[in-house]
Amino acid sequence: MSLIRPALVALALSCVVSAPALAKGDPAKGQPLSAACGACHGADGNSAIPVNPNLAQQHPDYIAKQLAEFKSGARANAIMAGIATGLSPENMADLGAWFGSRKVRAATASDEAAATAGQKLYRAGDASRGLPACSGCHSPSGAGIPSQYPRLAGQHQAYTVAQLKAFKAGERANDNAALMRTIAAKLTDQELTALAEYVAALRP
Ligand code: HEC
Ligand code: HEC
Repeated sequence: MSLIRPALVALALSCVVSAPALAKGDPAKGQPLSAACGACHGADGNSAIPVNPNLAQQHPDYIAKQLAEFKSGARANAIMAGIATGLSPENMADLGAWFGSRKVRAATASDEAAATAGQKLYRAGDASRGLPACSGCHSPSGAGIPSQYPRLAGQHQAYTVAQLKAFKAGERANDNAALMRTIAAKLTDQELTALAEYVAALRP
């Protein structure tokens, strides 16, 4: 299988995603709404609990997309479904704008050997297995590429591991054109843990 070329993928995605122009959110309207999120995600979007993702500095449109998909059930999660049910598309855009404007605090790599192995895979992929470099879509710094490719830099390792396992098992299936499911299926548990260790400590 040939390497997936990000530029081509991006082109293909722009055709696949039937994105109605997303409303631009207002952080000033998002801040009061975020009171309902702080207990789990941190008041400034840096969560104290590693299984709850950091939302700080994430792309606003990506946050809004996830909220819409928790609500519709396209991304299955009982906790977030209950919360997103009460949100309008405007609320979702405003919450995205608020959390996106916060600064994420990256972790310090606790397992240097794993982080080094993760870095290699992140930057180069593995052509022999048709595994593309993560950096092609999530950018070399891990900042992602607005708005379809989320930021990974500074995300809790435990959350990233859980998402990669969920993509691998097909339990998370809200990725356009199954991009992440196809990629995660090629990763061993050791590799995805190493990748998560590496991105958690990335500070762009
Ligand atoms: C009771 C705890 C809890 C509360 C309250 C909560 N969340 Fe979450 N949230 C979670 C958990 C757990 C996940 C991870 C779900 C998964 O594993 O798929 C999550 C995931 C998310 C994601 C996906 C992030 C990503 O990187 O894909 C977004 C966006 C999000 N929450 C936004 C919000 C917003 C906005 C609020 C407030 C309106 C909120 N959450 C309130 C627990 C919570
Ligand atoms: C061809 C483009 C592409 C490549 C290459 C790619 N990703 Fe992704 N990734 C995506 C897209 C698109 C999403 C967002 C899916 C959605 O909309 O929910 C995503 C989402 C993710 C998420 C979920 C983030 C969150 O906040 O929940 C993680 C983790 C992730 N990717 C890790 C990786 C890793 C690690 C690699 C390399 C092994 C990689 N990705 C390679 C396109 C890509």
